[in-house]
Amino acid sequence: MCGIVGYVGYRKAYPIVLKGLKRLEYRGYDSAGIALLNGKINLYKKQGKVAELEDFIIGKNVEGTTAIGHTRWATHGEPNDRNAHPHLSQSGELAMIHNGIIENYASLKEDLLKKNYAFKSDTDTEVLLNFIEDIYKNNGSNLEEALRIALKRVVGAYCILLIENKNPDTIIAARKGSPLVIGIGKNEHFLASDASPIVEYTKEVVYVNDYEIAIVRPDELTLKNLGNEKQTPFITKLDMELDAIEKSGFEHFMLKEIFEQPKTIFDCLRGRLNAEKGNINLSGIDKYLDAICHAPRIIIIACGTSWHAGLTAEYIIEETCRIPVEVEYASEFRYRNPIINKGDMIIAISQSGETADTIVAIEKAKEQGAIILGVVNVVGSSIARISHTGVYTHSGPEIGVASTKAFTGQLAALMMIAFKIAHYKNTISEERFLHLCNELAEVPEKVEKILQQNEIIKNIAASLKTSDDALFLGRGYNFPIALEGALKLKEISYIHAEGYPAAEMKHGPIALVDEHLPVIFIATKDVYHEKIVSNMQEIKARKGKVIAVMNEDDNITPTLADAVIKIPEADEIIAPVLNVVPLQLLSYHIGIARGCNVDMPRNLAKSVTVE
Ligand code: M6R
Repeated sequence: MCGIVGYVGYRKAYPIVLKGLKRLEYRGYDSAGIALLNGKINLYKKQGKVAELEDFIIGKNVEGTTAIGHTRWATHGEPNDRNAHPHLSQSGELAMIHNGIIENYASLKEDLLKKNYAFKSDTDTEVLLNFIEDIYKNNGSNLEEALRIALKRVVGAYCILLIENKNPDTIIAARKGSPLVIGIGKNEHFLASDASPIVEYTKEVVYVNDYEIAIVRPDELTLKNLGNEKQTPFITKLDMELDAIEKSGFEHFMLKEIFEQPKTIFDCLRGRLNAEKGNINLSGIDKYLDAICHAPRIIIIACGTSWHAGLTAEYIIEETCRIPVEVEYASEFRYRNPIINKGDMIIAISQSGETADTIVAIEKAKEQGAIILGVVNVVGSSIARISHTGVYTHSGPEIGVASTKAFTGQLAALMMIAFKIAHYKNTISEERFLHLCNELAEVPEKVEKILQQNEIIKNIAASLKTSDDALFLGRGYNFPIALEGALKLKEISYIHAEGYPAAEMKHGPIALVDEHLPVIFIATKDVYHEKIVSNMQEIKARKGKVIAVMNEDDNITPTLADAVIKIPEADEIIAPVLNVVPLQLLSYHIGIARGCNVDMPRNLAKSVTVE
């Protein structure tokens, strides 16, 4: 949450930082602001999106080769101009941006108020900034030292960028819990929450670690820990193309990302799944195969859409590997006193790799001796780095706030993990293993076929756009897909939606059914098919609107449904990765038909880096 950008070098900083903010806007869009150093700090900030800031700045002084910029997802203080970042210190000498939460800000503020500090905003950030300034004035020989002293007293999470009038060619940055990447150019450096504002200029980056301070000048990057010891920057090469973070002719990132899925799923499988030879090569888990096979239990931790991928994996792993699986919301797990036994294995799933609750849950499990397997999309992210081992999903940058291609990438990766373990453990026959490998290899092509129904789905969306509520029902492997379909609709169109196991309908939700309620059935053929057809009949008998996601050769479902979306046949274990695709499109078109901003839904941010 919140995007931060900084530039220090020889070029004009403003256009670089502004463009960077546009790239990071998916991380929060309550307000935006920029501070430029040109003789003195020039500060511009505005409630709303980056475009509003850009309009506001027209005609103003934007000179300078050092600048920091921020796009905000509000935590402390409502979204308005006053609370927008950057903040200026009391003396006006320092400006700072921050991503994270300072938990002990109230006590720090109390002390500062006693020292006659006055505050212009309601933010924890302004408190931290004045706390740093106070130390700087009284006992810090320079800003870097003052920052180091301050951070030792701070409780919470932060990525901060600081500039001062006195040192116009320096940005000082620090992180704990919130991400920071530094791009290395020739006589210039780029700082950002993720690599998307950087990739246009350089592919050489350093991922700053927790408790590190970076002193960044045009020709010099110095990393130190909080003990003032120099750290060697570890330079990595970005594996990302500019095209991956642009809309490439699509109207929205969400639509682009839905349509990218044949390729992104293929990329996830590429070089790993060899269906012909019956081989799954996942170097990340080879070393741990015995440990996983003998694990008394697998615990999956994740949030949101990633949690739905975890729930699907529970069904698949238990069926194929015969290992008990529990799926936990990371936010619950971290605050419980969970029982982790010797040998238990944790699978942590995250698109961004920066979700605060998942990070803390991993740390908690690690303390208790669990082995962590990360299933992560963003290369080099915090979760990828704190996991013992992992499998990247290789879905490419996901910019739309609603997760789409990352989810199908997670499913593909988790399926490969399950099938590999099951094969190694001999809990499925060779024949079944080969069949599942072949079925998985066919997924990209089948997704391509589903996407051809875009116009049909758009028409169904038009008939649902005025609904107030919707119910998504599925059984077995498709129950998590019902949950995911409901989550997509909620976040994109603001229609209230619920996902349920279809059999649970009679235990309550059926009371909602009338002629206005659309009920979306995920009803592709599996062992439950006859039962789900009965559930459809029960909805029809109560005049509900039935929309069915069904297989091409199903002759019964169309007689019960008001609208159908046809899915190519697939093994029931593989079907979830196909069945979710039309639900993503349905939400997208309903959101568009209702005039919603599908790439940046209200109140949301792409990666939830605060609890
Ligand atoms: O980056 P992560 O996968 O850890 O994010 C988890 C959730 O915040 C995320 O899936 C969220 O639910 C999305 N908005 C879903 O579309």
